[in-house]
Amino acid sequence: MTILIDQPEFGIEVEEKKVPNSGKELILDGGFVVPHANSFGHNFRDYEAESERQEGVETFYRNNHINQTYDFVKKMREEYGKLDKVEMSIWECCELLNSVVDESDPDLDEPQIEHLLQTAEAIRKDYPNEDWLHLTGLIHDLGKVLLLPRFGELPQWAVVGDTYPVGCAFEESIVHHKYFKENPDYNNPAYNTKFGVYEKGCGLDNVLMSWGHDDYMYLVAKENKTTLPSAGLFIVRYHSFYALHRSGAYKHLMNEEDEENLKWLQIFNKYDLYSKSKVRIDVEKVKPYYLSLIEKYFPAKLRW
Ligand SMILES: [Fe+2]
Ligand SMILES: [Fe+2]
Repeated sequence: MTILIDQPEFGIEVEEKKVPNSGKELILDGGFVVPHANSFGHNFRDYEAESERQEGVETFYRNNHINQTYDFVKKMREEYGKLDKVEMSIWECCELLNSVVDESDPDLDEPQIEHLLQTAEAIRKDYPNEDWLHLTGLIHDLGKVLLLPRFGELPQWAVVGDTYPVGCAFEESIVHHKYFKENPDYNNPAYNTKFGVYEKGCGLDNVLMSWGHDDYMYLVAKENKTTLPSAGLFIVRYHSFYALHRSGAYKHLMNEEDEENLKWLQIFNKYDLYSKSKVRIDVEKVKPYYLSLIEKYFPAKLRW
């Protein structure tokens, strides 16, 4: 059974949907969950079913909400900000995700790269001149390599799912908000007010977000000095921040640039969801185009 997290509205429980052609996989935030692998670059399909892969949506968010504290996020940003894990290009990373196929699912024959390319190609069709947005579609989920042993093999709750600010009050529109009561920050007066450690209009750039594939990929792109416009980086960092782009929460932390970039994120999000469809992509055919974009916006090999 595939569980898709339908993006929640305020006060409404997460909807669990059975999707045709699905297997025993938990899919969060419109992306594909990468199964744990036994080694880096080898035997990716050779894995034991991990218990967290079986867990329900509620359990997932309970773990997420209890453990994503201000201190945890700071620690993760410090650790992963070192970028000392791997050197590889964007395309190599796509292939790394691509080599991970869920064998527990006889029907899910689409490699990970198809979600990335489906998103990118769908945007390309409608916004042919915004090549940066095509590339943003390609890279937005690459941070899911955090699930792989070489990248620390982080648990699901620290990689996927909706994201939200830490260091200030958890707003009610965040999915399964009730579980924050068990988060140590919930009762910490430094972190549990509307603004917490932040100031009005400080800009989301200055806000710590719960740790996951979004913030990791943002760090990788930024620290490797990508020439992507700020809207591209904004999309990468906040594409799972549904409390913001679906529910309009946390606007008091935004600055003017964030307001502009949010418009692009809302456009992007439609394509991220749309790409769950079964449109097949001829990878070899589109590869030269994406290689040229990678060359343009990420001229050097990246440190991860
Ligand atoms: Fe995605
Ligand atoms: Fe994602």
